[in-house]
Amino acid sequence: MKSRPENFTIVIFGAGSDLAARKLFPSIYELYRWGHMPEAWRLIGVGRAGQTHEAFRSYVLTRVMEISPETIDDRQRFEEFCERFFYVNTDLDHTDGYYALYNEIMNTRGEPGVCSNILFYLSTPPSLAPVIVNNLVRAGLGGREHSCPGWRKIVMEKPFGQDLKSAHELNRMLEAAFDEGQIYRIDHYLGKEPVQNIMVFRFSNGMFEPLWNRQYIQQVQITIAEEFGIRGRGAYYEESGLLRDIVQNHGLQLLAAVAMEPPVELSPDAIRDEKCKVLKSVRLFDRESIHKSVVTGQYEGYRDEKGVASDSKVETCASVKFMVDNWRWSGVPFFMKAGKSLARTVTEIVITFRCPPQNFYGEHGTAACTPNQVILGIQPDETVAIRFGTKRPGEEMVTDPVYMKFDYRTSFSEKGLTPYHRLLLDAIDGNQMNFIRRDSVERSWMIVDSIRDALDGTAPDTYPVHSWGPESGVRIYE
Ligand code: BG6
Repeated sequence: MKSRPENFTIVIFGAGSDLAARKLFPSIYELYRWGHMPEAWRLIGVGRAGQTHEAFRSYVLTRVMEISPETIDDRQRFEEFCERFFYVNTDLDHTDGYYALYNEIMNTRGEPGVCSNILFYLSTPPSLAPVIVNNLVRAGLGGREHSCPGWRKIVMEKPFGQDLKSAHELNRMLEAAFDEGQIYRIDHYLGKEPVQNIMVFRFSNGMFEPLWNRQYIQQVQITIAEEFGIRGRGAYYEESGLLRDIVQNHGLQLLAAVAMEPPVELSPDAIRDEKCKVLKSVRLFDRESIHKSVVTGQYEGYRDEKGVASDSKVETCASVKFMVDNWRWSGVPFFMKAGKSLARTVTEIVITFRCPPQNFYGEHGTAACTPNQVILGIQPDETVAIRFGTKRPGEEMVTDPVYMKFDYRTSFSEKGLTPYHRLLLDAIDGNQMNFIRRDSVERSWMIVDSIRDALDGTAPDTYPVHSWGPESGVRIYE
């Protein structure tokens, strides 16, 4: 286990949000339980719930009991944990509230270390981020202010902006108050163990990397499918849609991890340089070819969901053919399918290799070959599988595809950290490796904006719930 971090304060904007209740409070409690928290630390919730410190503590207890009761191993310990929670009441757009926050931060209650290091965590809709950052600066809480010595960092939840323009604007505002080294843009996929394993699998083994290019790989398929729909997030989905919700961040980050060059060293910036280079090589979309490369869908019944317009044209599924125009990948399609209400919940990456130049072992004398594949299972199975052909027992000389499989669950006894454990610890420790840098976030928006502009409001095709999306989706493979 790493040494404990220095004493610090976490300030959570949007302390009443679902994310805080579902992910942040339980993860922080577990980090506390496992001994990852320092001697002195505290959490200040900011919101407009009009509650006292005590009421905030019982709210946290109630919500965690409701959502993940298994987290609370020992109620007394959880209550002691909550003693470190404080609350500042304010509308997030009221400057005065930020002076109250300043005072709360400076009121260390005899634990001087805690005001030195401050982690601001924005668990708020993207539209509020500029307001919060502006107000922090006005109240003397910007990243370059030093009313207390120590570090200041800001964690930004996704979505980071709505398009290139808004993301750029948000970056500009942030940079006026914080250095890039203080900004932690979250994509929680980067905290998933099997996602981190993509780089390890590629760069710690000698046998795959020589084949990992256009000469040997025929195509890559990235699937991020969810069996469930929008789960009551109608208002959010109407503004966002699947391309912004999943493809811009999780999808393109997976693509970057598969396609990146080896970094010159294992430092956050060396890795982020390589990921950004891939994103810069992703071909932008145009109106002439968009229908050959992108198909969007909307599941039947989406328009009946709460908060959704009865004539909504928002996509809940997308199939996209990306091309990566660089020396390693020229001509290799990267297919991506992501969507809600699809046939099953699965995230995986299938790398399909070219067939050998001759095949003697096809069924009934055909030359058909079953190509080799490397299948990186991200969830629910955390696996790496290799598919190859093997002789079917018996008289005939024909091959059948078989799999060799590694499974995290059966190969290791220790449990990995969840994304929020890991990313919180990384942010506290100051490790930006698994956070998105400004150049990548903006390039990802440029790619998704080019899809949306080229689609130019084309209505998505409908698809039945629990199918693999609209049938028209096959055309991108032609
Ligand atoms: C979020 C999206 O970023 O990721 C959700 O907003 C999606 O729509 C979720 O369901 C998927 O995350 P996970 O970790 O549950 O696969």
